[in-house]
Amino acid sequence: MSHSHSPDPSTVRVGIIGGGLMGKEAASAFGRWFALTDLPIKAELVAVADLAEPVLDWFRAVPTVRHLTTDYHQILADPEVDVVYCALPHHLHERVYNDVLDAGKDLLAEKPFGIDLGAARRIVEKIEATGRFVRCSSEFPFLPASQRVIDYARTGDIGRVIEIVCAFHHSSDLNPDKPINWKRQVKHCGEIGVMGDLGMHVAHIPLRLGWKPRRVFAQLSQIWSERPDGHGGMAACDTWDNALIHGEVAVGDREAVPMRWETKRLSPGATNTWFIEIHGTTGGIKYSTAEPKTLWTFRREGNTQAWTREDLGFGTPFKTITGGIFEPGFPDILQQMWAAFIAERAGQLNGRFGCATPAEAVASHEVFAAALESHKSGRAVDVG
Ligand SMILES: NC(=O)c1ccc[n+]([C@@H]2O[C@H](COP(=O)([O-])OP(=O)(O)OC[C@H]3O[C@@H](n4cnc5c(N)ncnc54)[C@H](O)[C@@H]3O)[C@@H](O)[C@H]2O)c1
Repeated sequence: MSHSHSPDPSTVRVGIIGGGLMGKEAASAFGRWFALTDLPIKAELVAVADLAEPVLDWFRAVPTVRHLTTDYHQILADPEVDVVYCALPHHLHERVYNDVLDAGKDLLAEKPFGIDLGAARRIVEKIEATGRFVRCSSEFPFLPASQRVIDYARTGDIGRVIEIVCAFHHSSDLNPDKPINWKRQVKHCGEIGVMGDLGMHVAHIPLRLGWKPRRVFAQLSQIWSERPDGHGGMAACDTWDNALIHGEVAVGDREAVPMRWETKRLSPGATNTWFIEIHGTTGGIKYSTAEPKTLWTFRREGNTQAWTREDLGFGTPFKTITGGIFEPGFPDILQQMWAAFIAERAGQLNGRFGCATPAEAVASHEVFAAALESHKSGRAVDVG
């Protein structure tokens, strides 16, 4: 159902394709857009496509939504949609992203930006051919602590960089009785498995800092190979559960600094624990969402070495009504990511952190493809 409407032209009108876990989070971010105080562009969710009627029913409670459909082509044909957010299983990314771009809409694409490297590269060809504004979803850099880590990596006195670690750990898959879903099947999630699910989150900050590994050695583990199918039987669970990617990057005067990207679905006790650590000979910094407002910085003076703990507040890139001493969470950083997308699209990023670019998404896929090859061959592999 769709009916005509004359919206304020200064408002960006968003349509969602895929109203599951992430589609609903996006609705929540737009639902309190008024909390943003230094972004003079409005954004509202106007249309949603999902195959599942119960999903569409949920969106009926969102007052700005005026177009609900089971056929995503109707969102693309809707002249009142400026930007499309796609939050779909990975095997659908390439086809739907290409359709969005052919329809003349801008796109916030979900990671991993295509099911594999080939798909990611073809999506970029389509972006170049259509000239649309496209970014890839990745919200962790919008945490206040992440912004501090990025500043520190660029300007801090680290000395010689010893090692870099970026990791994302989950644990719900430890339970073998957890039923199968599309994220645990190669045909829907991709051969890269957990790297497709969690990898962009560990790749984004290193890539933005210019730390793309030149060579990687990967250890991929599959711990459970079948799961309950939800109908009394068992189904093959054929994706990688955990991935350790050992890479090396040139940083400062060091040619081959070890950098490890960890993505794990089976990490005992971890619930969406994302962390980053940069260790150097005179300085260092580390942050984990397991201690959401705690930033640690390292300093060595002569023989004296100390980690300093600092409580962080709400120092997000885009200012909001939330008090500076309060702590941010997942819904906040998703809204920050959306603010960055909307601002950059309008040329109003003004030096603030921008969303992951298509080039960064392709670079992450190049690392994951090399990781697959490394695991198969048992050798280190150059990254394409
Ligand atoms: N940025 C993040 O932190 C984050 C977190 C989780 C998932 N994701 C990504 O978001 C995307 C979606 O993941 P999710 O967890 O929301 O999945 P989900 O399974 O919860 O939701 C997917 C939705 O897509 C719908 N769908 C499937 N095929 C469709 C079609 N042809 N047309 C319209 N709708 C269709 C399904 O009915 C479902 O509601 C994936 O790319 C995933 O990697 C990102």
